[in-house]
Amino acid sequence: MIVIAHRGASGYAPEHTFASWDLAAKMGADYLEQDLQMTKDGVLVVLHDETLERTARRNGVACEGRVIDHTLAELKACEVGSWMAPEFADQRIATLDEVLKRYPDANFYIETKKPEEAPGMEEKLLALLEEHGLTGPAGDEWRVLIQSFSEASLRKIHAADPSLPLIQLVHRKWETSGTIRSRTASIAEYAVGIGPHFSDVDAALVEAAHANCLAIHPYTVDDPAEVKRLTDLGVDGMFTNLPDRLLATRPATEARGRDRLRAAVDAYRSCRGEAAQEI
Ligand code: G3P
Ligand code: CA
Repeated sequence: MIVIAHRGASGYAPEHTFASWDLAAKMGADYLEQDLQMTKDGVLVVLHDETLERTARRNGVACEGRVIDHTLAELKACEVGSWMAPEFADQRIATLDEVLKRYPDANFYIETKKPEEAPGMEEKLLALLEEHGLTGPAGDEWRVLIQSFSEASLRKIHAADPSLPLIQLVHRKWETSGTIRSRTASIAEYAVGIGPHFSDVDAALVEAAHANCLAIHPYTVDDPAEVKRLTDLGVDGMFTNLPDRLLATRPATEARGRDRLRAAVDAYRSCRGEAAQEI
């Protein structure tokens, strides 16, 4: 079971902050998740929302507007911790570059968020990954999984570097298990996995994903009953805000860290060599 720390250990510390990723890394999560936004001056920053109001504050007052309408310097004047608790008021919006520098041994699960509204996002992401040694052999080891709801964004990245492993996210309820199933063969042309909402996952979807050699990583799973249901169905990983709890469900014999990723990569490559592509 691959454990993806959703926005970090965001059940315990404010999402997409060093406090949250530090905690997730300390807990032993396999991947630290980042949602990308682009600033007005073309810097990739990590924030879930395209707007500031929900999580950004300056001197106790909400920062306002769209991320893309602000420069990085303007965004750095806001903090993104006090909305959750006062002790996190020192947490600033992080650039992706800062995140990659801070966690040299981590694995990253990076989402291109609404890339159609931030032209050039994919190119900047690929350049940063290259700069940090996260392409080439690191791509083959799945050190970074790139995820998106946008098929166009993923296909663009695949065309630029087919060795990078990609995850196609699918919207909750917009697509039922049946419609996701019908897309698995075409998704397998460019991606190594799918990320459905947990409520859309059933045995037929897991079977269809695996028949096409796609890993299946549902989001976002904190409820123990759902963890059990999805584990029993045979999903390959889960996004969670509570990485310690999901980690605690793993068998003691299961591989950890990079060894766990290697097992996932081996399973994928073996499947691609053997499995039929039809369901
Ligand atoms: O990326 C998986 C999951 O995080 C998608 O939902 O809105 O939390 O980015 P969201
Ligand atoms: Ca996300």
